[in-house]
Amino acid sequence: MERDPSLAHQPLSACQESPSRCNRMTESKAHTRLGLLIACNALMNFDDTAALHPRILDHLTDAVLLFDLSYRLVYINLAGEVLFAVSARQVLGMRAKEIFLLYDKTIEKDLKRALGHGESLTKRNLALELPSQMITVNLTVAPILDQDKPVAGLVQIEQVDRHLRISMEEQIMAQQNAARMLLRGLAHEIKNPLGGLRGAAQLLDRELADEELREYTKIIMEESDRLQLLVDRMLAPNKPPRKSRLNIHRVLERVRQLVQVEAPAGVVIERDYDPSIPLINGDNDQLIQAILNIVRNAAQAVGQKGRIIIRTRVQRHASIGYRCNRIAAKIDIIDDGPGIKPELLGQIFYPMVTGRADGTGLGLSIAQSLINQHGGLVECSSSPGNTVFSVFLPLEKDHE
Ligand SMILES: Nc1ncnc2c1ncn2[C@@H]1O[C@H](COP(=O)(O)OP(=O)(O)OP(=O)(O)O)[C@@H](O)[C@H]1O
Ligand SMILES: [Mg+2]
Repeated sequence: MERDPSLAHQPLSACQESPSRCNRMTESKAHTRLGLLIACNALMNFDDTAALHPRILDHLTDAVLLFDLSYRLVYINLAGEVLFAVSARQVLGMRAKEIFLLYDKTIEKDLKRALGHGESLTKRNLALELPSQMITVNLTVAPILDQDKPVAGLVQIEQVDRHLRISMEEQIMAQQNAARMLLRGLAHEIKNPLGGLRGAAQLLDRELADEELREYTKIIMEESDRLQLLVDRMLAPNKPPRKSRLNIHRVLERVRQLVQVEAPAGVVIERDYDPSIPLINGDNDQLIQAILNIVRNAAQAVGQKGRIIIRTRVQRHASIGYRCNRIAAKIDIIDDGPGIKPELLGQIFYPMVTGRADGTGLGLSIAQSLINQHGGLVECSSSPGNTVFSVFLPLEKDHE
């Protein structure tokens, strides 16, 4: 591979290693610019902080690619590897037009212009067709100058639709939270008078000699108890989690046994566990409650006969809202039931939203809230015959 001599003395090999460090999504634009500036300096000649530069570059959310004067790749950061779904080893030394073959046919012309005129250019809202999806990016090509002479071309790719998606996720989570808070407020208001009502009915029941009249007080007490249960569910979760190190598979096994006992004989619950998942720091009872609500729904959905799979995997670089977790546990609950109606799908995590005649619509809202308290998230996708609820639980120290 040819390299520009002015770049050759820099410790590029350190940059080429794909680090395990997570590509943080929370970097601000200002940080990104600063990072690029420092990175350029590192590649030019600044030995004292050189060890830091690959780290900074690999923490950027933007893809950064550096090309020499013959348009061959001499550096790609971690976000670049993730974006193009390649490892640095596979693409270093390749021509820009080969790397961008599918995406942007004019890249070498842009590099030529940037290097020839010493000017940078930005293409906004460019559609890149990646093998798995179509994304929208802002692509900037800039020359790196040494004493006014271009020595390399820098390509920076910022994925713009990703920011949109994350901010939408955050917005939805905030809305779900607000709906839960509203409901909790209402439940609080009902709870006290309800207690008084039930107490008064009980006193009256003792005073009444007529058995027929006591039937009425019994109804008041029974209905109050039913309402009390509902109010208590509306107030859940009402305790902060009491966390300890636990094996997530124990939680799942408990849930599996509970649901298997309740479910008709034709419902099969299968396990597909990844035993390499490290211990989780969580509240055992709350996690059982959250997963139980989801698996119970699956069992209700499949009816008399069906298949539910509980699958666990380790997920790397899992983004939960604006937070990117280096490593997370992913628990999928998959069922082959009829699926969730499209008009309901966007709302099922809101409280009191139900598609079942006897449902209260609280199960998923409680599950989401409990998992949020663990720094995690519940997602759902559904089509007839394949409904998947995915629970993400971060496995990093900062959530402990
Ligand atoms: N696996 C699934 N397959 C099909 N529909 C589902 C599934 N999971 C949830 N749903 C739909 O989402 C709705 C909301 O679920 P949620 O658990 O919040 O409330 P619920 O089950 O109706 O009542 P409950 O408070 O008793 O749990 C359900 O009523 C159902 O229509
Ligand atoms: Mg439910």
